[in-house]
This record gives sequence, C-alpha cells and structure tokens, in this order.
Amino acid sequence: MQTTVLNNGVEMPAIGLGVFQTPPDVTAAAVEEALRLGYRHIDTAAAYFNEREVGEGIRRSGIARDEVFLETKVWISDYNYDATLHAFDKSAGKLGVNRLDLLLLHQPLSSRFDLTLDAYRALEGLLADGKVRSIGVSNFMPEHLDRLLTETSVVPAVNQIELHPYFQQSALQSVHAEHGILTQAWSPIGGVTSYGGEKSTFDDSTLREIARQHGKSVAQVMLRWHLQEGRSAIPKSTKPARIAENFDVFDFELASEQVAAIDALDTGVRGGPDPDSITLEAYGMEIPEA
Ligand SMILES: NC(=O)c1ccc[n+]([C@@H]2O[C@H](COP(=O)([O-])OP(=O)(O)OC[C@H]3O[C@@H](n4cnc5c(N)ncnc54)[C@H](OP(=O)(O)O)[C@@H]3O)[C@@H](O)[C@H]2O)c1
Repeated sequence: MQTTVLNNGVEMPAIGLGVFQTPPDVTAAAVEEALRLGYRHIDTAAAYFNEREVGEGIRRSGIARDEVFLETKVWISDYNYDATLHAFDKSAGKLGVNRLDLLLLHQPLSSRFDLTLDAYRALEGLLADGKVRSIGVSNFMPEHLDRLLTETSVVPAVNQIELHPYFQQSALQSVHAEHGILTQAWSPIGGVTSYGGEKSTFDDSTLREIARQHGKSVAQVMLRWHLQEGRSAIPKSTKPARIAENFDVFDFELASEQVAAIDALDTGVRGGPDPDSITLEAYGMEIPEA
C-alpha cells in the first residue's frame, strides 16, 4: 500500500474506495470487501446517502477504527458556520465515529461564496477542536482557491477534482503544487466518461496497448498513472473482482514515455458538471439528521 503525507503531516493511503452511486443496500458489503482486501481509505459524502452503511461496513470488517482513513463531504445545503458544524454531527453520527480523518466542502458555491467561506471557517473550527484530522475542498477551481486562501487561515489539505486521462486539469494541478494541496482524483478511471455512452477511457486504444504491455487492465494502468504523478485516487466499484483489481496496482511501474502518452490523452472536456453551475436553487437538498 502506498501512502501520501498531507500538508499537515497526516498520512493518507493514496488509493481509497469511492462510493458515489453505490446503493445503500450494497455499500456495507463493498466497504467490508475493500477492507478485507487491504484498502484502508473510504471516500463518501453526505450527499451520497450511504454514510450509515459505510460505517456498518467498517464495523463489520473488524478493522480498528484508527486503521481506516475515513473521508466525507459537507453538502452545499449545509453551508454556513453553524450548519456546517452540525453537518459534522450528522455525518459522524451516521458513520458511527467520533472523529473524521478528512472533511471536505463538496462544491464551491460560486453564487454564494460568502456561505462557502463560512462553511470552510467551520471546518477550521472542527480541525482546531480535534473533531477532524484534516480539512479540504472538492471541485474548487483556481479562482475559488485564490479567494479561499486569501480569506481563510488553513490551506486545504486536499482538493478532490474530476481527473482522468481525458480531463486532467493541469493548470489547477499546478496551483495545488504551488500551495501544497494534494490533488485527489474523482472518476480516476474515467467512470464519468462512460455513463452517458460517450467515448470511454475503458475503450481507449492507447491505454489498452499500455495495459497489454504490462499484463494489467486499463483501470490498473490509469490508477498507476495517478500514483506515479503523485495523486490520490478513489475508484468506485461494487464488484469484488474489480475492487480487488483496482487495489492491485503496486507491483508494476509505467515507463516515462507511457506516462507521457497518457498525459497526451487530455481532451480538456469535463465529464461532470461545471462547478459554477452548482447552485442552491438547482442542487439544494436536505441532508437528514443522523
Ligand atoms: N467530489 C465529487 O464531486 C465527486 C464526483 C464524482 C465522484 N466522486 C468520488 O470519486 C469516486 C469515483 O468516481 P466515479 O465513481 O465517478 O468513477 P470511477 O471510479 O472512475 O469509475 C467507476 C465506474 O467504473 C466501473 N469500474 C470500476 N472498476 C472498474 C474496473 N476495474 N474495470 C472496469 N470498470 C470498472 C464501475 O462499475 P461497477 O461498480 O459496476 O464496478 C463504475 O461504473 C466516487 O465513488 C466518489 O467517491 C466525487
């Protein structure tokens, strides 16, 4: 297992299991299976509505709580100082834990950045109180990070962003490097490129050829590419064989020309929503109590 050290010294396993779109009734089994296979990092969110089942999977695994890096996210409907403090209570309550390893703001709320800043100040308070071990953001673009860094005190440990061979956000990654923010890739194997039937990373001929050369799968090649470029990645699967495959990436090394060939696949086209399109009006929803 490969770990990475966040900007506040906290150690995080580089590969985690993602559970977006994992139905609640199969979430505990997926988490338990991942932990059995050696994963020690789970990424969920209040807005995935499966935190309770993530907690159940961790408990069922029998693995000690402090051996699992647990990451979740506050939804935009809970952005303001007090609501975000309470969002911690809701998530921790559902997960059945006292402390989180990483708590993120799920989206920048561009149209109400004042609320985004208040929510982040609440994360800073939770960090100071020892309720979370590290804090960060997700889907922030350079202009959001600029404002955040100017108007708050703690540099986010992580920005979790859409990042796969077809959408690499290299300018944003440079901003992260400049400030010591870890880039964490969501849809790291390009899941978002396959949901709408568009050209999918899984069918990419360059990735397939590199995979063939290593006797690995296309998914494994993409995850290895993230690791070699210093990123964290949180692939999602509900299938035991794929959960295992996505963690079997520590025994091979891509050559520099293979890494460069994957870098060259960037299309600059986002698969997910433009972060500026996320508004309370369009995406607000109530996050239930624990
Ligand atoms: N912060 C955000 O806004 C945000 C947005 C999206 C995602 N995320 C996080 O990132 C995680 C991963 O992103 P994602 O779920 O969009 O995409 P992903 O992990 O890149 O891909 C997941 C998709 O690929 C399939 N798959 C998994 N392993 C595979 C393999 N080895 N070979 C072939 N297909 C495979 C999965 O299906 P099966 O389950 O059927 O195997 C699923 O359809 C999420 O679960 C979530 O934790 C965050």
